[in-house]
Amino acid sequence: MNDRTKQDHSRAAPARDSLDMVMRYHQETKHHFSRFARSLGYLDWANQPDPFRRYEGSPVFALPLLKPADAPASPLYEDLYRPGAIASVSLTVRSLSRLFEYSLAISAWKQAGEVRWALRSNPSSGNLHPTEAYLLIDDIDGLSPSPGLYHYAAKEHALELRAQWSTERFMRLLQGFPPKAFLVGFASIIWRETWKYGERAFRYCQHDVGHAIGSVRIAAQTLGWRMLLLDGLADDTLAALLGVDRAEDFEGAEREHPDCIAVIWPSDQASGAVTGSTSGVPLFLAADALCDVTGHIWHGRANRLSRDEPVQWEILDQAVVASWKSSTEQKVVQLNHERRYADPSDHPKCLYVGQPSAGQVIRQRRSAVAFDGTTSISAGSFFTMLTRVMPGAERDPPSRAMPWDVLPWEPAVHLALFVHRVDGLVPGLYLLARDPAKLDLLRGATHPQFDWSSVAGCPDSLPLFLLQEGDERALAAELSCRQDIAGDSAFSLGMIAEFESSLRQHGPWFYRRLFWETGLIGQVLYLEAEAAGVRATGIGCFFDDPVHQIMGFNDAGFQSLYHFTTGGPVEDPRLTTLPPYALDH
Ligand SMILES: Cc1cc2nc3c(=O)[nH]c(=O)nc-3n(C[C@H](O)[C@H](O)[C@H](O)COP(=O)(O)O)c2cc1C
Repeated sequence: MNDRTKQDHSRAAPARDSLDMVMRYHQETKHHFSRFARSLGYLDWANQPDPFRRYEGSPVFALPLLKPADAPASPLYEDLYRPGAIASVSLTVRSLSRLFEYSLAISAWKQAGEVRWALRSNPSSGNLHPTEAYLLIDDIDGLSPSPGLYHYAAKEHALELRAQWSTERFMRLLQGFPPKAFLVGFASIIWRETWKYGERAFRYCQHDVGHAIGSVRIAAQTLGWRMLLLDGLADDTLAALLGVDRAEDFEGAEREHPDCIAVIWPSDQASGAVTGSTSGVPLFLAADALCDVTGHIWHGRANRLSRDEPVQWEILDQAVVASWKSSTEQKVVQLNHERRYADPSDHPKCLYVGQPSAGQVIRQRRSAVAFDGTTSISAGSFFTMLTRVMPGAERDPPSRAMPWDVLPWEPAVHLALFVHRVDGLVPGLYLLARDPAKLDLLRGATHPQFDWSSVAGCPDSLPLFLLQEGDERALAAELSCRQDIAGDSAFSLGMIAEFESSLRQHGPWFYRRLFWETGLIGQVLYLEAEAAGVRATGIGCFFDDPVHQIMGFNDAGFQSLYHFTTGGPVEDPRLTTLPPYALDH
């Protein structure tokens, strides 16, 4: 974004003030029926930020462009969710290429008349793509001969070397992690979103981080790799590690806000053994290897994205400061080794005939711009989709279901569902408690007249309840900034976060994490929709408090943070689709 995004501004305001500030930011960036959150109110096209960051002057390593059938080939989509069904692929420049292709790469170019724009494997609010990705990895063939920090250049599908690390320091940094572990980090160019959305943009950046975490976690799963967010790190440390604190490399360029970093490693259970053993994985990095990252050899300078200086939004800048994580917690989580199926005939391949591969589903993912208002989905598909957003019964994150094992905190987001067209389900307002332990809390906070009746045919493992019957199509559209996509769908939903209690329990920096959790839910549902033969769209524009009134929430205990909709898409025939990188790809 700009200089105000720098970590210097974060130096700890008292926690209480920060909490108030974050709550105030949230309150003041709500959309109301009578007034939208503040933005310029028009799009300054001449100053539109470039969606592609480059580090000019840094060595570039092209990732191989792989055809769908090239190795490593994709597993079936359904296998992503079968523990142990996917053997680990070894870490090479090809498997890295797949990791980025399935998560953050360009998936197609769209053209209307003379205008052409890129779509990516991950969705993004307004297609503005504020999230930049970094890779910190040991030397592997095809990349730099020493360990290095790279920036992922999506337009080129290439890695730009930002910093060279010594092997010794890299080993120290990753001590305590599984063999072959490497790191993927994210940072947001907030200006890309403020350009369009003004003050509410900080929320959208966080949604997008959640989607990016989800895309990389799911891409890692296609390769039999695991991923865990190193959530114990302070943001200053993260900024230094990713090099986004280096004023000299950002002179005249828009700054990046450090978001998070995750460790990825091959789960290596190829023997088929059921180990059942556990070991600890730190949620932080070795402090002695982190200090003096300035000692590295750095390369490249960030390109300027807009003609003019970014427009400032004071309350957003204050939220950046207030939600900065200034503490490091040296937490270790126990890692349950993935159980492999002892008998592969457990899931015979013939069941999968005609089923799509994960790569296919990921590549074809698109947001619907309109729904037909007629397509329904089966109750079975609906229940499967909801099952996939359940974190799993166990409370220890790494033993949770994929992709929820990436988030090392207790789930804090539930779903309020507007069911319009799900065969066998009465239309109405439903609630899915993603953490069944929170049911009483949710019941206590919602309207007393809600039914809370059980849903016929719903699997026992799904805490799904009908709150009230009724045709909610007009209401759902009205609440989602009057966007028809929320009413013309099979179902739409609001993601309801345990808001104030989470911020008080963890700290104001958890504000960003609540949005990340919603983005991850969205990412799972986007792919689920494609796999079920329908389509989805994330909805960042909704009227906050009217949603809360429908639910009966009358304080900041629960807040809706993100909306989502799924249905039968109407394609726009005026658009031409072009391949992502080369015509023969
Ligand atoms: C956080 C988020 C919020 C979004 N909000 C809306 C919205 O309010 N209305 C809408 O039509 N699309 C919305 N979208 C969809 C984006 O416009 C879409 O992802 C983007 O144009 C890229 O297209 P793709 O998803 O097909 O790659 C949202 C997407 C995300 C990730």
